[in-house]
Amino acid sequence: MPTNIRIIQWLKVLCLALSVLTAMGSPATDQARIIELRHELARQDDLYYRKAAPEISDAAYDALKAELHRLENTYPDFKHTNTAVGDDRTGGFAKYRHLEPMLSLDKAYSNAELAAFHQAMAARLGHEDIVYRIEPKFDGIAVSLTYENGHLVRAATRGNGAEGDDITDNVRALCAPPEELKAVTEDAGSLPALIEVRGEIYLGQEAFARINREREEAGEPLFANPRNLAAGSVKLLDANALQARHLDLVCYGWGAIEPADARPATLGEFRQRLQAWGLPMVEEPLTAVGWEALLDAIGRMQTARKALGIPTDGVVVKLEAVAEQDQLGLGPAAPRWAIARKFPAERVTTRLKAITWQVGRTGVVTPVAELEPVALSGSTVARASLHNAKEIAALDLRIGDMVWVEKAGEIIPAIMGIDHQQRPADASVYAVPEECPVCGTRLVINEEQAARRCPNYDCVAQVAERVEYFASKSGVDIKGLGPATVVTWVERGWVRSPADLYGLKREQLLGVPGFGERSVDALLAAIAESRGADWPDVLRGLGLPGVGSERARDLAHAVNGLDALIAVDLESLVKPENAGGAGFGNSLARTVLAHLAKPQVQTELKALATAGVGTSVSGGKTLATEGAFSGEVVVLTGTLSRWTRAEATAALEAAGASVEPRVTKRTTLVVAGENPGAKLQQARERGITVLDEAALVARLGLEM
Ligand code: IVH
Repeated sequence: MPTNIRIIQWLKVLCLALSVLTAMGSPATDQARIIELRHELARQDDLYYRKAAPEISDAAYDALKAELHRLENTYPDFKHTNTAVGDDRTGGFAKYRHLEPMLSLDKAYSNAELAAFHQAMAARLGHEDIVYRIEPKFDGIAVSLTYENGHLVRAATRGNGAEGDDITDNVRALCAPPEELKAVTEDAGSLPALIEVRGEIYLGQEAFARINREREEAGEPLFANPRNLAAGSVKLLDANALQARHLDLVCYGWGAIEPADARPATLGEFRQRLQAWGLPMVEEPLTAVGWEALLDAIGRMQTARKALGIPTDGVVVKLEAVAEQDQLGLGPAAPRWAIARKFPAERVTTRLKAITWQVGRTGVVTPVAELEPVALSGSTVARASLHNAKEIAALDLRIGDMVWVEKAGEIIPAIMGIDHQQRPADASVYAVPEECPVCGTRLVINEEQAARRCPNYDCVAQVAERVEYFASKSGVDIKGLGPATVVTWVERGWVRSPADLYGLKREQLLGVPGFGERSVDALLAAIAESRGADWPDVLRGLGLPGVGSERARDLAHAVNGLDALIAVDLESLVKPENAGGAGFGNSLARTVLAHLAKPQVQTELKALATAGVGTSVSGGKTLATEGAFSGEVVVLTGTLSRWTRAEATAALEAAGASVEPRVTKRTTLVVAGENPGAKLQQARERGITVLDEAALVARLGLEM
């Protein structure tokens, strides 16, 4: 190769290298980063919205979003119109085209960004004294409820903003929104011919914690946060699974309203209507005039939202006057008259002192991070859950590490990551136990679920957990009997199963340091009283594998009383007319039976029956088999005049029926109120008996 050509080639390489170097932080790299971020966020949106299985924490997602936001603002020309609000549409649902688009909200990640929003509002409206409304930003699943002449006709997801999934049946089953809006007598005009009410379906923090606790005990993977659980629930296609979940609804806005003059003039007025109509909303409204007051109100809302028991991830600021909202209009992806002030999840760093292993009721052994106590979101955190050994390995966690702790769903502390720079030289690898930390039995390892289980049914830890569970609110609710007392009794060998509680002697208990006559007598009275606990509570308290609180209620219908449970066979568990078929598929039924067949379990159940618990013999109450609706599987449709849907359900259940959300093969009766929906049609097609309200009331033995 001639020398001059070689020189030219070298020069080319040099130029390329130089251009790469100078491109760092240049428009070209920034714009490439914008594309990359959009791509990554779209992927994360897909995981989050459609699969309900995000890969990164909300904080990490928000950081990417904020970076994109910054870059897009630096290159306004490059900021193409982005109508993406995610897309949650999935197969298995009919589609619904929203009459008004269901948009997203612009986000402000700092007060500076919020100030820019306020300045833009002031410039557009021509004054600074803007009236704002400040609301919590609920962290659930957006839903649009269509009411026609006050009747609920549809519930839909946001979808891509223009078209969503029709999830009417699921929403009815999950959160029973009012089927009928209450008319406002003094202002009949305020019940519009049509309204799309916009709101959020969410899972309360307590329910979230309970579900995860149950999953943890069963060795099942945990939900990352309440929103994922809600997102998964609204898309459930399995009626049985649906029946076991209960979510809540909160309303905050509207889409289409007909006639147009039925639109409210202010958000305050809209709230009054929501309340009058009987739609759920949150009691924490705030308004503010001007910038200073806005900041102050946001600060107050930031504190108030924590006490709501509802997952929130920020505060929404909206223009109060609807005329001003109209003046500003909508952008491609979000209204111009509102913004969400997002706050990063509170996160602190602290030191990991140790990893201990805890044995649960079913023997599942889970790691617990013991932390240097640290203040986080209003409480002191000294322990965090670590789900399983795989997770510890994935985090590459060592004893002595400085770790980031966040509250998942703002309630359970979780370790989100490690500050590798601060790892001490002597940080030690923890040991995964081969043996039960309590009784020393060799653990059984389930690789698939990354779970370890102590197979020793008599392991003191398991016994104490079982007795505690039986005595807890989830079971027969023995007031005043706490975990520490149970552990003492189990350790002394007095209590080996729940039945032993009923044989405890006064003198025996008085011998325990710290227990005086009054506390012992109160405890014994509470234990005696629990003999009369309702059968479903007793059954739940037994904590059968795979039988959480909701399924226990269904099982209690199929297997009525402790004697029946002791003698139960496979057929009666899986027979579709039993248990409302509620989840007692073959495999669950077999799991339950295998458990019941264990000699220790049989002995315990018989002892409990002898103690007079959960049997009809003893004054302990079993379900009303003689109820007017015993054995019936009932579906409700339309509105009843004397009851809400929840009240009617309770009345029917008390009379022995099991109430289900949909007409299926199992359905034996349909109760049709005013304006019944498609279920009435389905009932007729299937030849199912239909009762109207008068017939229902009569059969319940009540007067109309
Ligand atoms: S108003 C046109 N108010 O947050 C959109 N939305 O990230 C106006 N959200 O799509 C929505 N709490 O699903 C509004 N108090 C609130 C909200 C709220 C939660 C949701 C909603 C929205 C999403 C945007």
